[in-house]
Amino acid sequence: MSHSKTLDYQNVKLTGSISVPGDKSISHRSVMFGAIAKGKTTVSGFLLGEDCLSTIDCFRKLGVDIDVVGTDVTIQSAGIDAWEEPKEILYTGNSGTTTRLMLGILAGTNLHTVMTGDDSIGKRPMRRVIDPLRLMGANITGRANGQYTPLAIQGTQLKAIDYTMPVASAQVKSAILLAGLRAEGTTIVREKEVSRDHTERMLKQFGGSVTVNDGVISIDGGQPLKGTHVNVPGDISSAAFFLVAGAIVQNSEVTLKNVGVNPTRAGIIEVLEKMGADFTAQIDDENAAEPTATITIRSSQLEATTIEGDIIPRLIDEIPIIALLATQAKGKTIIRNAEELKVKETDRIVAVVTELKKLGASIEATEDGMIIEGPTKLQGGRLKSYGDHRIGMMAAVAALITDAPIELDDASCIAVSYPTFFEHVDVLIQE
Ligand code: S3P
Repeated sequence: MSHSKTLDYQNVKLTGSISVPGDKSISHRSVMFGAIAKGKTTVSGFLLGEDCLSTIDCFRKLGVDIDVVGTDVTIQSAGIDAWEEPKEILYTGNSGTTTRLMLGILAGTNLHTVMTGDDSIGKRPMRRVIDPLRLMGANITGRANGQYTPLAIQGTQLKAIDYTMPVASAQVKSAILLAGLRAEGTTIVREKEVSRDHTERMLKQFGGSVTVNDGVISIDGGQPLKGTHVNVPGDISSAAFFLVAGAIVQNSEVTLKNVGVNPTRAGIIEVLEKMGADFTAQIDDENAAEPTATITIRSSQLEATTIEGDIIPRLIDEIPIIALLATQAKGKTIIRNAEELKVKETDRIVAVVTELKKLGASIEATEDGMIIEGPTKLQGGRLKSYGDHRIGMMAAVAALITDAPIELDDASCIAVSYPTFFEHVDVLIQE
């Protein structure tokens, strides 16, 4: 079945306001913690994206009672020790977060489970999680000695480790912390560069204790968690597409409400600032477990910048749309230290450079990023999404400024993280 879509947005400007859908990372974790904890957990603002629905599906197969009404989710659990051994394979779809965090959770249960996902998941490295889990005593097998799905996990009693992260990855960090929750002793994770800290924040919301000190995170094993309420903020990684659209589509003014601005995620705001974008951000409640803001952005002249070092983990998912932004900025934008892009839903260095080149952008791939020279008037063309939601949305935002329509081969993948994306485009378009 073809899901190709013609993106025909000639001479538009964007005005008005939208509320960004729930954060993907936080939505996953709300269900995971709700299932681990004893009692009732209620979640509001849950993201109904395919990835998060995969997480719900996995926990239902483990016998956890999960009810979804709109974006409200209720999880009733008798705790992790009451989960059932699933008769079926746990299917994680396109979701790296589900696959990797579940590994950390399942390794310390007394259950045998098998996990697999789609074609993209089958190519993504799992040893980065399985290696530290094996040091904790985990019993996990898979293709290529556990590098690739399908993976089989025989749960066992784990022991704590002291682990220095070789890559900046919140998925790896979170898997180890979740395993540490069930391990004997105190697990320590050392991060050289800070990655998103939603797991640490949510552990506290569920009554757990975790200490974070200068990149050293410690968690004691054997802590019980208690059900609670989780308010999921809007996803800054989804907002990013409309932040960039507002900045590059002439005569636009876009307001994005309920944008999660956790500092470990907000690198794009710093980039917009450095590039001279015209925006204001109003923080709603600084003391919330996950702070949010209302952001208004207007189109303006943009300047090139260099993006490197410890900001990279704070904007890693935004790099495809930042690359499009850079095509409209004056000068040479350099993105480096971003080799992690190669192991996302697709190789995002190859995908971004190949597709933006088709539109006439001046962009070259490097070993660990890309170099973009602008500004360039982009042309229409036939683009591929590589089944990657963020490449698909980059193409759609590009179509707002091209001189002719873009034909996108597969737009259905956008539902992975932003099922209402095209509705929001329609809301903001003023012919
Ligand atoms: C995520 C962490 C990031 C990010 C992904 C979600 C998470 O991956 O790219 O979309 O929820 O922990 P890595 O931790 O592998 O960098």
